[in-house]
Amino acid sequence: MTTEEIGLVLVIDDSFTNLELLYSLLTEVGYDVLLAKQGRKGIDLAKTHPVDLILLDIIMPELDGFQTCNLLQTAPETHDIPIIFMTGISDNLEKAKGLGLGAVDYITKPFYKDEILARIKIHIKLRRLTRELIHEKQSLEQRVEERTAELSQILAELQKTQLQLVRGEKLSSIGQLVAGVAHEIKNPLGFIAGNIDIATEAVYHLIEYLELYRAKFPNSGEEIQRKGVEIDIEYLLQDLPKMLASMKVGTDRISNLSTSLGTFCRSDTSVKVLADIHEGLDSTLMILQHRLKATPNRREIKVVKNYGKIPRIRCYLGQLNQVFMNIIANAIDALEEGRENSILPPDVGPQITIYTKLSADGQQIRVQIADNGQGMTPEVQSQIFDYLFTTKAVGKGTGLGLSISLQIVKEAHNGNLICYSELGEGTVFEIQIPVGDPEAIAG
Ligand SMILES: Nc1ncnc2c1ncn2[C@@H]1O[C@H](COP(=O)(O)OP(=O)(O)OP(=O)(O)O)[C@@H](O)[C@H]1O
Ligand SMILES: [Mg+2]
Repeated sequence: MTTEEIGLVLVIDDSFTNLELLYSLLTEVGYDVLLAKQGRKGIDLAKTHPVDLILLDIIMPELDGFQTCNLLQTAPETHDIPIIFMTGISDNLEKAKGLGLGAVDYITKPFYKDEILARIKIHIKLRRLTRELIHEKQSLEQRVEERTAELSQILAELQKTQLQLVRGEKLSSIGQLVAGVAHEIKNPLGFIAGNIDIATEAVYHLIEYLELYRAKFPNSGEEIQRKGVEIDIEYLLQDLPKMLASMKVGTDRISNLSTSLGTFCRSDTSVKVLADIHEGLDSTLMILQHRLKATPNRREIKVVKNYGKIPRIRCYLGQLNQVFMNIIANAIDALEEGRENSILPPDVGPQITIYTKLSADGQQIRVQIADNGQGMTPEVQSQIFDYLFTTKAVGKGTGLGLSISLQIVKEAHNGNLICYSELGEGTVFEIQIPVGDPEAIAG
């Protein structure tokens, strides 16, 4: 017999002759054997020894074979040990009852040696295979569980990388575009602005000259006077300087905007630089200016700046500007969408308030961006930082803004991004950035 077929067999029978016979038969071929003369004793042995198979007599005093079988099948330590009943040759009813109780097989008396050994061998082997199968199943389940955990982690990492890529791409494409536009604008703008100054001076000289001329020669003749009426010379003389002044305002505005664009997109992505957060906020607001103006559906959005005294900090200003941009753009959306749901009095106009301050311990800079828009339900609020979560219509929102912002604040700056919101009242986002090394505070 091979080692894998050797097993421990428990024989329970009240007949000493049967016990003796089975003992010698089984030990002869290599099985280990335990013997019990009563059901109770047999159950105790089965509970305390690694029994592979039980041969069980049916007719016994006190506990009979069926009762013993029942107890073995219901005890957790013994419920999976295969049981073979031993019955008289003609007891068909008993055979059926035994099998019904959960026995795996039966052998008939008088014993036929080869049959007994063949059946025992098969059932011990079956039990081993079943155990192996259960073991395999368990380890398979565990492997599936491990793989699932691994895969979900890979998925989470993938999403994170994707966010980083989108973030980087968004920034660099905006950065490149703006750098290009700002560069292209600068020269012609400088040229126009410079010439406006010269032109203004020239126009003043011309007007002066003309007035002097008119004072000296009041009767300039019919032709000149007709021309003066034709071109409305009086109006022209008044309007020309104003026109030049407003052109100057226009070029100043473009120049400010292009400086803001430059500040906004300063693509210092690889190193942190000492930067002024207020400059970042102002340039962001300047870029969003067109979205703050009144529309047919709402009044102009008022922006209130409550800037505190804060030090310059070492940061990726270009990226922080992106955070300000996402949060302010969301606030504008909330003010646009939800004024009708607002529980605020109708005379309170749409407003965005920006506070900046240094935390009491001087360790953190806090930027709060508050709106009095529609606010959020707690359910929405619990998901706003999730990748691709949006409540906006297709094409209006991608659900990336806040997850990108959270990544920038938390991972790139070791800070925190917190949201407070009340439905119908408004929302506050607070960005907390550590001040960092003392050198920064000096700035
Ligand atoms: N100030 C706010 N008031 C009310 N709801 C807001 C506010 N800011 C964000 N939310 C909610 O959080 C959601 C997620 O914002 P997030 O900026 O991540 O994505 P989005 O604005 O929908 O799309 P985008 O990727 O274009 O920014 C929004 O769809 C909105 O429901
Ligand atoms: Mg957004």
